[in-house]
Order: sequence, then C-alpha cells, then structure tokens
Amino acid sequence: MYGVIFDFLRDYVIENHGGKPTWSMLLKETGQSPYKIYFPVKDYPDAEIVAIAVKASEALSLPLEAVLEDFGKFVGHRLVTFYYMYIKNENYKTLDIIESAGTYIHDALHKHNPLRKPPVVTAERISPDEVILHYTSQRRLCHVVRGIVAGLAEHFGEEFKLTETQCMHTGAATCRFTVKRVSVVVPFGVVTAKKNEQRAQQQA
Ligand code: HEM
Repeated sequence: MYGVIFDFLRDYVIENHGGKPTWSMLLKETGQSPYKIYFPVKDYPDAEIVAIAVKASEALSLPLEAVLEDFGKFVGHRLVTFYYMYIKNENYKTLDIIESAGTYIHDALHKHNPLRKPPVVTAERISPDEVILHYTSQRRLCHVVRGIVAGLAEHFGEEFKLTETQCMHTGAATCRFTVKRVSVVVPFGVVTAKKNEQRAQQQA
C-alpha cells in the first residue's frame, strides 16, 4: 500500500483518536518502531496497514468495518485537499470525482509507478444525480469506499443514498454500489435532488 495512505491513517488516528501517543502505541503493538515514518511515495506491505487497522478497532472496541468506513470518510476530505492537482475542474463534486477516480486518477498513479496497485473503480453515470460504482481490488476495502463517498459528500455539502448490491466479501467478483444524490446543501437551506431536477426543468 502506498505510503500516502499510511500518512492519512496516521493523521486520522492523531486527529480523531487520542493524538500521537495512540499512533505510537498502534505502531509498537503491531511490531513496528513507535517512531516509524512512512514515506508518502514509498510502497509498504498491505499486511502492515491491515494490522494497524485491526489493532485500532480492538483499541476502540469497534468493528473493523466501522473503523475502515470512518477512516474512508477522513480520506474523502483529504483526497480533495491533498490531491487537488488531480481534480481537473473546480466545479467537480462527489460524483465527478468518483468518475475521475475510475477514468484517469488511479491509472495516472499506477502509470507513474507500477508498484502502486490502486483499486479498479469504475462509475457509470445513469442520471445527473446517480452513478453505478464498481470497486475491484484484492484488498476488498469496500468499507473504505463507503467512507470515501461519505467524506466527499460532506466536503461538497451533498447527501447520498449508497446501496451495495453485490460484494466481494460475499463471493462476487466486484463490489457494486448505486450512489444516488438525495440532497444538496445550498445557502440558507437544503435542496433535494428532486427539487433540483424540477428547477432545472423550469429553467430549461
Ligand atoms: C482525487 C481522487 C483520488 C486519488 C488521488 C486517489 C489516490 C489513491 C492512492 C494513491 C491509493 C493507494 C494505492 C496503492 O497503495 O496501491 C488509493 C487507494 C484507494 N482508493 Fe483512491 N484515489 C482517489 C479517489 C478515489 C475514489 C473516488 C474512491 C472510491 C469511491 C477511491 C477508492 C480507493 C480505495 C478503496 C483505495 C484502497 C486500496 C484498495 O482498495 O486497493 N479512491 N487511491
């Protein structure tokens, strides 16, 4: 796994779960030096980040899935601020970034360094407010995908209904989600996707 994801995990733990002492404890308890630095552009064994996430879920007495989803939410925000250079259009919001992850972002990262094995994320836009998202990876981190969508949505003031209709954890070849925008936060209120559609039709 790419060092930048370890960095995101470090920041997530420090900012949300008890600061540097917790991070050092997690490193120590998973057999690493408590002072270990992860270099963002270096590749590290997947088993190392899985061990840290499992230890964190034990320490928090939370299911691993809940910790992975909450971490994904943190990453969703970070993707927009840390990787702004990959976001081609300043008007892009959640669905556009999900589409971009599949069409060029993950590929660009892989082309840049074949050691990186970003997941295959594809998104088929079926309406202005809905995409079918497919996620495929030997790491099977679909709970992180759930969190990333929630984090992006929170960042852009949008609300989504996310339904996983097939999952690699139950034997499917790929995880399949329907991602439907249900509302958008606008100045002085919230506009449902339905209202948004009606407005667009009136203006058309
Ligand atoms: C600005 C947009 C994005 C950037 C720059 C980005 C970058 C990355 C990078 C560098 C990795 C580590 C790859 C590795 O270690 O081999 C990664 C992993 C991952 N990305 Fe993205 N990503 C983006 C958007 C997304 C989106 C929209 C999703 C899903 C909705 C997503 C889902 C994941 C997941 C689940 C992983 C964990 C590794 C795995 O599952 O195999 N990413 N991404």
